[in-house]
Amino acid sequence: MRRIGLYTTATVPALVILSFFVWFANWIPQTRWEPPQKQQISSGMTPVQLAAIGDTVARQRGCLACHTIEPGAGAQGGGRGPNWAGVAVRRAQGVPGGPNNLVDYLVQALYDPGAYLVEGYANIMPAATSPPAKLTYEEVVAVVNYLQSLGGTPLVKVGDIPRPPGETSAAVSAAQPSAGNVTEPTRILSAYGCSACHSLKAGETLLGPALTASGLRQTASERSTSAEAYVMESIVAPAAFEKQGFPSGVMPQDLGTKLTAGQLSALVAYLLSSGGER
Ligand code: HEC
Ligand code: HEC
Repeated sequence: MRRIGLYTTATVPALVILSFFVWFANWIPQTRWEPPQKQQISSGMTPVQLAAIGDTVARQRGCLACHTIEPGAGAQGGGRGPNWAGVAVRRAQGVPGGPNNLVDYLVQALYDPGAYLVEGYANIMPAATSPPAKLTYEEVVAVVNYLQSLGGTPLVKVGDIPRPPGETSAAVSAAQPSAGNVTEPTRILSAYGCSACHSLKAGETLLGPALTASGLRQTASERSTSAEAYVMESIVAPAAFEKQGFPSGVMPQDLGTKLTAGQLSALVAYLLSSGGER
């Protein structure tokens, strides 16, 4: 008996620790927005941790095909692009006619390399956020810290520097996988872009008709189907019946494969509720 008691007291903390790791392992992928092959960068990382990741990122994404890191060589090393060693010292005050501090200058050099051309070099560097490097915003933060560490102290945290221009489309596609987790009907409508084409206010026509409970019930009764069946069909098989007076084939045809079953029934219930009061 004593032995069993001993085992029990030892197993409980072990189980607690084990379940923590199981929870943690499951929790990580859902809080990250980057595709898995990217470096894992979280907003809580210190600039020193970010600089270490930035070092790896710069090597893996081909920056060193052009840049060299040759201590003591000055800006002109042996590469097609400037020598990075000591860049933090050389650019501590930014550049004449451009950003007047290191971080703003580095951000400009990565987002818009042509905005200031280092003496003696041509405009051949692709923006770091474009192919082939295609750095994400978080990776830019990491690389800026790494460059800052080459002669200076890394100081930048995620959120400190501006996001790349035109990043919105990337953010929208990155948000796509998580749309399946949205449960609140009005948020489902925005997560799947429904709100871009449909207003919920009677009479307010966007690209598609306003979605009101009374309007939907009306169309359903004209077609002699139940309101639920009609709304469900409109979403999963829009081509089956197209409402007169609206552009044909515009409503996405693949929503049935994207919405989860739970989201679909939540939407149907929501759109048919509140008797057109919205
Ligand atoms: C095809 C060659 C090439 C590649 C690849 C390249 N660069 Fe450059 N880079 C240059 C050239 C040339 C310059 C100088 C002309 C200019 O300022 O645009 C430069 C300038 C810079 C500067 C300013 C340096 C200074 O001394 O002021 C930074 C910072 C920089 N690059 C970072 C990067 C990073 C980070 C990457 C990878 C994501 C990268 N570069 C990839 C060619 C390249
Ligand atoms: C790109 C624009 C667009 C998007 C995005 C879109 N729709 Fe539509 N939708 C339309 C158009 C146009 C019609 C009218 C023609 C037709 O019936 O296909 C329509 C019709 C409908 C109808 C039938 C309306 C009626 O009065 O009979 C419903 C219900 C509907 N959409 C729901 C949705 C939902 C839910 C989403 C998001 C999950 C969505 N739509 C996304 C354009 C869009």
